[in-house]
Amino acid sequence: MKRIVCLISGRGSNLESILNTAESERWATEVPARVVAVISNRADAAGLAVAAAHGVPTSVIEQQRFASREAFDARLADAIEAHQPDVVVLAGFMRVLGSGFVARFAGRLINIHPSLLPAFPGLATHRQALAAGVRVHGATVHFVASEVDGGAIIAQAAIAVLADDGEESLAARVLSREHLLLPRCVRWLCEGRVALRDGRTVVGDLPSGALALLV
Ligand code: GAR
Repeated sequence: MKRIVCLISGRGSNLESILNTAESERWATEVPARVVAVISNRADAAGLAVAAAHGVPTSVIEQQRFASREAFDARLADAIEAHQPDVVVLAGFMRVLGSGFVARFAGRLINIHPSLLPAFPGLATHRQALAAGVRVHGATVHFVASEVDGGAIIAQAAIAVLADDGEESLAARVLSREHLLLPRCVRWLCEGRVALRDGRTVVGDLPSGALALLV
């Protein structure tokens, strides 16, 4: 049984997509994996209630209670490690993690970011995309490296930017793709179909094209 730990900071819709998929009959029979814990760096994260509704244990580790970023990272890493995870998912975790933390979980730690990386790292990605005038936008799941929103790309989902799109409409369409993309990547990592080797994603037994979601 593969053990998944999810880290969140807010709404938790990506967490919910993982939980719903992992609880589906198909996963239950095909993928021996489950979410064993959800950890938030904010006590007010709505995603904590999402986890609780699915019967998943939660905890909160707030950075402001720690004297330094290293101390926070170390406490968070210990809390995650206590659950002996095979996969750690940053599912809307809005805090940069230090290189020590990233090294400790290398190959097990993935993030979802709402842009087609390497375009538009950081915040306000949909605003950045509209300002740049791109015609295609989307989301990326990648292994976490110490640079912000960096690391080997696993898979991407793309959508068309429409003439009348604003930040909200664009965000909503990208989010709906995130909810398809992230559970798939979690599953592939649990199954060993994708892995990190020498800083690059290696892909095993997957249909060609599976890593690009174009719907
Ligand atoms: C998602 O859009 C996710 O891609 C983004 O935060 C949102 C969380 O929503 N993550 C980042 O921007 C990380 N750089 P959720 O809490 O509803 O899943």
